[in-house]
Amino acid sequence: MCGIAGYIGNRNAPEILFDMLRRLEYRGYDSAGIAYLSKGKVVISKGKGRVDEVRRNSKNGDSSIGIAHTRWATHGGPSHENSHPHTDCNFRFTIVHNGIIENYKDLKQELVSEGHRFSSETDTEVIPHLIEKFYSGNFEKAFVESVKKLRGSFAVAAIDPEEPEKILVARKESPLIIGIGKNENFIASDTPAILPETKKIIILDDFDYGIIGKDDVVIKDLQTGDRIKREIQTIDWDIKQAEKEGYEHFMLKEIYEEPDAVKNALKGSNEIREIAKRISKYQKVYFVACGTASYAGMVGKYILERFGISSEAVVASEFRYSTVNAIDNNSVIIAVSQSGETADTIASVKEAKKRGAHIISVVNVVGSSLTRISDGNIYTYSGPEIAVASTKAYIGQLVSVTLIALFIALERGKITGDYVNEILHDLNGIPEKIGHILKNENEIRKIAEKLFKKDIFFYIGRRLNYPTVLEGALKIKEISYVHAEAYPAGEMKHGPLALLEEGVPVIAILPNDDLAEKMESNIQEAKARNATVILVSETGDLKVPPVDPLLSPILYIVPLHLLAYHISVLRGIDPDKPRNLAKSVTVE
Ligand code: F6R
Repeated sequence: MCGIAGYIGNRNAPEILFDMLRRLEYRGYDSAGIAYLSKGKVVISKGKGRVDEVRRNSKNGDSSIGIAHTRWATHGGPSHENSHPHTDCNFRFTIVHNGIIENYKDLKQELVSEGHRFSSETDTEVIPHLIEKFYSGNFEKAFVESVKKLRGSFAVAAIDPEEPEKILVARKESPLIIGIGKNENFIASDTPAILPETKKIIILDDFDYGIIGKDDVVIKDLQTGDRIKREIQTIDWDIKQAEKEGYEHFMLKEIYEEPDAVKNALKGSNEIREIAKRISKYQKVYFVACGTASYAGMVGKYILERFGISSEAVVASEFRYSTVNAIDNNSVIIAVSQSGETADTIASVKEAKKRGAHIISVVNVVGSSLTRISDGNIYTYSGPEIAVASTKAYIGQLVSVTLIALFIALERGKITGDYVNEILHDLNGIPEKIGHILKNENEIRKIAEKLFKKDIFFYIGRRLNYPTVLEGALKIKEISYVHAEAYPAGEMKHGPLALLEEGVPVIAILPNDDLAEKMESNIQEAKARNATVILVSETGDLKVPPVDPLLSPILYIVPLHLLAYHISVLRGIDPDKPRNLAKSVTVE
């Protein structure tokens, strides 16, 4: 949802900024731009299109300071004018912004009435004009005054050719980190952007602002102006994790990292056990998340139910306005999020917190906003996920929610320690089993070749694998642009069966469990309508090794991820950057 970057140091800023933007492109890719200072002036290269396209069309420049932006349009469609960076009337104060300025209409009206000339439809453009308005010889003062006028969310970076030794930054509810180098510093929306440059970062908090020089970083409080000390953290992600390493797409690489995602999430077992001890006393358990992460939450709910513990899994965009009314100090919220920056999930957590709930987050990105408002964090340690469609992070979430559900059940005396050990033992064997599925990629591709021209898909499963089919269908929708319906298999006869006719693909999940016979009947119902059934089972069209039914969601989703990937590629789509979407959804 837009990415911002900045560089100040002795090297060539435009080159570094474009490289950083490429690593941030998953946050938005409808337009891009950079601004740097050269000979006392601002030089801007920007436009509609992908980062590489904008880079090709940009003038070569030499500069040691600049800012950059990759856009996912909110206010105003993708165009040269709406691309960032934006400047004031005199092309002096230049800024990039991620977030939404909710009061931009009022601010714009006021600025226009005072004679300011706007050249875009964006909410962002009010910021440089505000700086211009408040400027009376001190860039920092004008910047702070301007940012204080903004309502909504922002991560913003600004430069001024009259003060070429600093970049000013500020944040509220949109992520912003500072990368600490030697005689150089970086700013970015997210860690992958700076991974090749430095592993030392400062994570800004809401209402922090910073003055970033090449040799120093000063952080202050936006409200009081007082200096604040923020700890320098060391990231343990490897640069290789943020590169394709020979894979055609990040998505494929990340599917191949699914075995590691299981191993990495298992590293959190001890912490999760401790957290379960703390939260098992809460009577109401809610899993709250968006999209793919919400399906991981559903799996958590099904596992708790299996052990006789009631819980709910609610998508955050609904939870925050409805379920939240039922929250009190007897509630625990388990928020699930890869990025830890999803606006609806964060808002749900904040609302639940106000009502006294205890908050636990299952998160991939360490130091993200969600982790800072939670009472406890379970990290999935999946490493950077670059493709827009979540794959390995989902696997990590599944492992973490399985563990938390198991340990809650253990604490409540619903299951025995021996049973938990048995499942932990089986979980340790899952990476190898995923490896077997990945070895069958060619077979899966062949099925994709048969199906990729179809324009409707059905996915059916039951109980723990109802979330699996929701995830399978979401994946194919978002990266292949085909209509896909996911149904609990038993529901098909209550309406959707009417849509089945010859050749309609029905992807059916058939684990070897006590509901297998019921599933078989549902499959027969589809076959009787001449649908093309693709069976996902131990012996089916998409083969999955035998597994304890409790862990089946972790295995059964793997062939569906590969199937969606291949259908996308066969349809000529870039699965890493599907249209209209962005990875981290930081707006409501
Ligand atoms: C789908 C997908 C999205 C995310 C959702 C939540 O492939 O990636 O549905 O799962 O936007 O994002 P996080 O997990 O970052 O909160």
